[in-house]
Amino acid sequence: MQNLKAGVIGCGYFAQNHLAAWQAIEDVTLAAVCDQQADRAEEAGAKFGAGKVYTDAAEMLANEPLDFVDVVTTPPSHRPLVELVAQHGRHVICQKPLAPSMEDAKAMVDACKSAGVTFMVHENFRWQGIIRHAKQIVDDGKIGEPFFAQVSFRTGYDVYPNQPYLATDERLVLYDMGVHVFDLVRFFMGEVNSLYAQTHRIHPDIRGEDAATALLRHDHGTSVANMNYVSAVEHDEFIQIPVRIEGNRGSLEIRRDYQLSVVSDKQMTHHHVPPGQYPWGSPLGGAVIESVVNVQRHWVDCLRNGTEPDTSGADNLKTLELVFGSYKSVAGDTIYHTEA
Ligand SMILES: NC(=O)c1ccc[n+]([C@@H]2O[C@H](COP(=O)([O-])OP(=O)(O)OC[C@H]3O[C@@H](n4cnc5c(N)ncnc54)[C@H](O)[C@@H]3O)[C@@H](O)[C@H]2O)c1
Repeated sequence: MQNLKAGVIGCGYFAQNHLAAWQAIEDVTLAAVCDQQADRAEEAGAKFGAGKVYTDAAEMLANEPLDFVDVVTTPPSHRPLVELVAQHGRHVICQKPLAPSMEDAKAMVDACKSAGVTFMVHENFRWQGIIRHAKQIVDDGKIGEPFFAQVSFRTGYDVYPNQPYLATDERLVLYDMGVHVFDLVRFFMGEVNSLYAQTHRIHPDIRGEDAATALLRHDHGTSVANMNYVSAVEHDEFIQIPVRIEGNRGSLEIRRDYQLSVVSDKQMTHHHVPPGQYPWGSPLGGAVIESVVNVQRHWVDCLRNGTEPDTSGADNLKTLELVFGSYKSVAGDTIYHTEA
């Protein structure tokens, strides 16, 4: 079987994790990279052994017989780039947050559907090993029917030096991190019927909100989605995600240092689930590398088997609705009801 030929658009900060993973995945060849900043494209091409280097995405698509394209730019360029890739009939992955509006996100999903190409949002958090482990315990019925979840991403990690756009964006933590937290809530608890959210801006020198909490109602339970970029705490767990799920037969809790504790029918077990080891590093830690490799392997499996990615564009619309619904809730100090 021939290797899948990949093209990557955007060779900035987070793309370094994607590129290392593409280089490592056996049946993918990194055929081309593209960044409108020539030095970034050249550097990535040399470091990750790309076949060709471009500064223009349209030119790359016109010249290269790619099987798929991975878009790793910031949200304002996601829609035009995804539509461009779809017009060329190539399968496409896009980084989160998918788009600055529901209208843009729906248009991207429609464009890919009309072009008959597979479309996945690169939602990596649910691909951390400890998260998969916890989900398996829930799916095995060990804690019974879940009726409560709390997903918390509260950190004082200084996100602004690596991602300066976060300091000036009108929307911050609900948009940038909320997509991950809400995706995890949906992963464990299923769809959301309604929500109520509150936000605050604590850091004096940023534009958007850096602290947010949402209370979400499901058919059979409640979730609390917590996120901020401003907590000063003794044990900063960045980039691990504390999760607590309670069911009618027990509960589970993901704690720091990759500890997972489970209560099942009054029996307690402890699991240590550290991330897998990879030959390259990331300043963000092993859980990031592992989750990026896993989501990209999932994509390859989907293309090989002709199956829908877990976080397809269509699926991700439901996550994005919770983000924009939260902003509506905050603006009106009211409950937001999701679309049926
Ligand atoms: N999943 C995670 O944990 C995680 C972490 C950080 C960032 N991200 C996401 O990754 C995405 C990229 O963020 P980043 O911090 O790497 O941004 P960045 O600004 O460092 O890199 C983006 C790159 O895209 C290039 N670019 C923009 N438009 C282009 C175009 N039309 N053609 C070619 N190149 C273009 C820019 O020149 C830049 O080099 C964002 O959507 C961000 O939210 C995800």
